[in-house]
Amino acid sequence: MNISQIQELKSSAVPVLVLKSDKKAGGHPFYKNLFKEDSALVARFIAKTPLDKEAVYPVFLPSGGRILIVGAGDKQKFAARNSVLAMRKIVAAAKADKIKSIKLNAADFTAKGFADESLIAETLGIQLELANYDHVAYKTKPKEGWNFIENVYVFSPKNIAKFLERGKAIGEEINSARELANTPGGDMTPAKLAEAAITAGKKYHIKVKVLGEDEIKKLGMGGILGVSQGSAEPPRFIIMEYRGTSAKRAPVVLIGKGITFDSGGLNLKSSEGIYEMHMDMSGGAAVIHIISALARVKAKRNVVGLIPAAENMPSGGSYRPGDVLKTMSGKTIEVLNTDAEGRVVLADGLEYAKKYKPRLVIDIATLTGAAMTGLGKRTSAILSTERNVENALREIGDKTMDRVWPLPLWEEYEEDIKGTFGDWANSSKVKYGGAITGAVFLWQFIKDYPWVHLDIAPRMTTIDGDYLAKGAAGASVNLLVHFLEKF
Ligand code: BES
Ligand code: ZN
Ligand code: ZN
Repeated sequence: MNISQIQELKSSAVPVLVLKSDKKAGGHPFYKNLFKEDSALVARFIAKTPLDKEAVYPVFLPSGGRILIVGAGDKQKFAARNSVLAMRKIVAAAKADKIKSIKLNAADFTAKGFADESLIAETLGIQLELANYDHVAYKTKPKEGWNFIENVYVFSPKNIAKFLERGKAIGEEINSARELANTPGGDMTPAKLAEAAITAGKKYHIKVKVLGEDEIKKLGMGGILGVSQGSAEPPRFIIMEYRGTSAKRAPVVLIGKGITFDSGGLNLKSSEGIYEMHMDMSGGAAVIHIISALARVKAKRNVVGLIPAAENMPSGGSYRPGDVLKTMSGKTIEVLNTDAEGRVVLADGLEYAKKYKPRLVIDIATLTGAAMTGLGKRTSAILSTERNVENALREIGDKTMDRVWPLPLWEEYEEDIKGTFGDWANSSKVKYGGAITGAVFLWQFIKDYPWVHLDIAPRMTTIDGDYLAKGAAGASVNLLVHFLEKF
């Protein structure tokens, strides 16, 4: 999609008029630019239409062509979140009406606490891209082509072009993460995920190294080996190193769960539970494209990405409940449930992270169904040793609509995951608080480092109210790109 700024109104693209319930169209640049008979019709339409919040009304004009009128609801209640949803809804409506080019007025998206032109422009770039994405790689192209928007022109008297472009770059990376996650498990193996990292590395000049099974063995990463041993697909350990500033500055290390398909292993998932488990590498996909986005916006930071990639399958060779795995750290894991595999591969990733003497370690994982049970599907869970980082992430989450909400990280939960025949049990003896005990398990492998755990299982897929295509949501990419640029 082309997104560009216009400073004059002449383009033939379909104009979009976002109106609050006070219905003040008179001062709108696109309204003022209409032919007389067109504006008379628009005025009549506005007068008799309720302009419900987030509703988009296409109006055909007497002179030919169309205008899209968007209801934004009560002006006082129009917050950043409503503005973002309006952006997405406009794209969804234009796609449904097969409109290829639209023009927007940047000022229409001003909301409470969301008034800065550069921020609005960047958000437009991101959100228009997100809303225009759909996973069509496996569908036959219709004769008339896909309904994607091709051109968006954003009107603003200020110079916002570079912020639109920045937003577009971030939006594209979020969509690339969604595309990797949406790719079926048979086509998105650990080797393919590694290839995606290599491709991104070549494109944006990021150093990428991929360890194969032999090197994983040499490093003693018994967690990754244990999980992957039941699969015909060998594991990979993916390393991406982005250098945006002096090598003397310690990096932030990101670790993404890269389970390319989670069947549950011998503790096989139910048919309901196994559905969508090709997206269990969403954390890994996020890491690849967070680092790509940082490279594209030339962030002056050092960030390392690590992805333990494996497939969790049942077979005669699978790891079993009762097996005890020795991780790279030397600590052992007693496998009580082969479906709690994410924490087992991440244990090795967390140990590897220590090589970098990081300032902060962040893991991103579709770790537990329990996070979803506790929080619903509108926020990821955050558990962290650093209260200031947690607060910063919550704030950025609200602004970017890529939200996180805290759960407790307390040592008393360690009681629930003490192993009987190994150091730590990979699943809790207590049936409650699974998102917390999952995090507390990971913590054992990164004690003494500032650490953040993001359980993105709740936001692995989009929901209807997001106005985004069904499938992967790209959770945490937008959040962490913004966080890492500043931290
Ligand atoms: N990948 C799943 C968690 C998940 C569930 C992500 C639904 C997204 C949507 C994870 O590996 C898993 O199976 N976790 C178990 C842990 C349990 C066995 C301790 C769970 O949540 O039930
Ligand atoms: Zn699992
Ligand atoms: Zn999993």
